[in-house]
Amino acid sequence: MAKKGRVFSGARPTGRQHLGNYLGAIKNYVALQDDYDCVYCIVDLHALTTAEDTRDLRQNTYEMALDWLAAGIRPADSIMFIQSQVPQVTELHLLLSMVTPLGKLTDLPTFKEKVRQQPDNVNYGLVGYPVLMTADIVLYKTDVVPVGVDQAPHIEFAREIVRSFNYRFQTKALIEPQMKNTEVPKVLGIDGKEKMSKSLNNHIELAATPEETRQRVMQMVTDPARIKRTDPGNPDVCNVFSLHKIFSSPEEVAMIDRDCRSAALGCVDCKKLLIKNLNKYFEPFRAKRAEIAQQPDQVWDILHDGAERARALAEQTMQEVREAVQLPV
Ligand code: TRP
Repeated sequence: MAKKGRVFSGARPTGRQHLGNYLGAIKNYVALQDDYDCVYCIVDLHALTTAEDTRDLRQNTYEMALDWLAAGIRPADSIMFIQSQVPQVTELHLLLSMVTPLGKLTDLPTFKEKVRQQPDNVNYGLVGYPVLMTADIVLYKTDVVPVGVDQAPHIEFAREIVRSFNYRFQTKALIEPQMKNTEVPKVLGIDGKEKMSKSLNNHIELAATPEETRQRVMQMVTDPARIKRTDPGNPDVCNVFSLHKIFSSPEEVAMIDRDCRSAALGCVDCKKLLIKNLNKYFEPFRAKRAEIAQQPDQVWDILHDGAERARALAEQTMQEVREAVQLPV
């Protein structure tokens, strides 16, 4: 079947993935494979811009790859690889840096945020983060980049770099990528306050056991105004209800919506239903993950094979790029 074009997306190796990662990216990565040529990258070099130490880097890369595979990334159809195993990206990053105004990089809200977060580690690599991201995208002649809204400034920036590069070197070697905004249902962490994230430890891992899932859901904060069992609740402000809307049947969602408001249903029973549905939904994922995990070498083989295919595409682009820049061949 003819595909609609190439999709590229990258994610930093954060180890075992959680519900937020799944709903915000992985689920969409899997679906896009039907219509696009997909390239999915574990951006370990980007991780270095903020990493305090790198002890867990390999393990985190492995665990994330395992989750991607178990969730349904098909290595026969898509390219799944580790960024640092395609060294062309660092070469392109450098060449793109020559057409990237430094002031624009330091003005980006994402950069300013990082400066606030790590004032003692404002390194050169961190400033160049969006340039490396641009290199990721254009190296594979990407048409479409599925990312969340937080990445919109980076994609817009990538488009500017592409235009500057193509104009400066009078080439069409680089393609301006389109952003495809991933519709993310609003799911918060178990605290019911912050976005789900591993660093805040408010997350629920996809690979959690049914018992771990039960414990995490039981800790979830519900409507804070509902104190006594007999108080009516407001599902609209309840993060448990947000998850029901994704993982429970329409009939169950309608029942909860009704019975929470009338206090016929209590939070504990509501959570028990969510636990059941979450565990059912992720049962095939967990089984597949356990099966793949029996042969870790297989995961590394898939990543190496992906890198090889990625390098072939990357080298083609780089030949055009080097020629456009008039580097001697
Ligand atoms: N910056 C992205 C993030 O933090 C990760 C990323 C790196 C990426 N390179 C990319 C995303 C290329 C899309 C395309 O989520």
